[in-house]
Amino acid sequence: MSKVTISLIKADVGGYPGHVAVHPELKSAAEQVLSEGRETGVIEDFRVLSAGDDLELVMSHRRGVDSQDVHGLAWKAFEKATERAKELKLYGAGQDMLSDAFSGNVRGMGPGVAEMEFRERKAEPIVAFMMDKTEPGAFNLPIFRMFADPFNTAGLVIDPSLHSGFRFEVWDIMEHRRVLMDTPEEMYSLLALIGAKSRYVIKRVYPKEGHAIDSSEPVAVVSTEKLYQIAGEYVGKDDPVALVRAQSGLPALGEVLEPFAFPHLVSGWMRGSHNGPIMPVSFSSARCTRFDGPPRVVAAGFQVCNGRLVGPVDLFDDPGFDYTRQKAQEIAEYMRRHGPFEPHRLPLEDMEYTTLPKIMEKLKHRFEKVE
Ligand code: F6R
Ligand code: MG
Ligand code: MG
Repeated sequence: MSKVTISLIKADVGGYPGHVAVHPELKSAAEQVLSEGRETGVIEDFRVLSAGDDLELVMSHRRGVDSQDVHGLAWKAFEKATERAKELKLYGAGQDMLSDAFSGNVRGMGPGVAEMEFRERKAEPIVAFMMDKTEPGAFNLPIFRMFADPFNTAGLVIDPSLHSGFRFEVWDIMEHRRVLMDTPEEMYSLLALIGAKSRYVIKRVYPKEGHAIDSSEPVAVVSTEKLYQIAGEYVGKDDPVALVRAQSGLPALGEVLEPFAFPHLVSGWMRGSHNGPIMPVSFSSARCTRFDGPPRVVAAGFQVCNGRLVGPVDLFDDPGFDYTRQKAQEIAEYMRRHGPFEPHRLPLEDMEYTTLPKIMEKLKHRFEKVE
């Protein structure tokens, strides 16, 4: 059997009201396009989901990563959804469609992409994580914990098939460079980089040599598009997505979800300018209302079956995460009370990519020299 590719491609093509949610008719528009794509054999299967104001396309196919046909299909789905968003005068209609014409690949055109090609195992569990109101570095902490933290992933300690660790591919998204690092050997060096989550982001995780899965096949991948770099000015946060395979020599499903029991601080939230807790929520609670947030993450669980998607299961729709949600709200309340002060508001260097410099520009001529 040829390899299967799972592509998770997302875009904000209009919210309602404001940046809160995706209108159901946008999902229907995208579904229609992807159904045609399934009928004509471009893709094998798909699901159209949403997280906050982001339209999320999960597709399975046999065309590998960066396929012009699959990216073209996704682009068409976003175009159709944009048309409907414009008719409904939704907020920010077409916001992430930063180019007028498709040119072979959606990378660099606005949408975010996480995709991986692999040999389907006897049973293939996979989780699609979708975040709203934050940036790709928000995945650094949870992905690190899944694949490298023995206090999170019991299998790293007690399962011989995980015991030798994993290989991380980290991108410097400012300088467009990357580095490969092995854990546990290089764990401290890895943390030195990925702790600076606005610059160094985990792009992929691979098994090491000797693992049952070939070491060239990723087992996790994160979207790393940076919208402000593409657009040249602030057009909202990136709202990243990730795909993670689980079980049988990889972190168990519960070890993949466990890092999200801690609502860590991420940057984004209101105007992409604030630190706040990331809250794991069910599909139906993925609506960013309080102060345009707080940032949130949903998880869709699937089994891949001969290229078809069995699922999704709404994985954070579980009282097991109620405590986390409560904690996230306490943290949200605490952070909010700082108003416009750091560290709720992002540090100045990160505010460079927001609308603040325009205010600073106006104040510039008011300053006088201090002797
Ligand atoms: C955050 C986000 C929103 C907007 C905010 C202001 O990613 O998209 O918080 O930044 O609602 O939006 P505008 O400037 O469009 O009124
Ligand atoms: Mg929006
Ligand atoms: Mg969004």
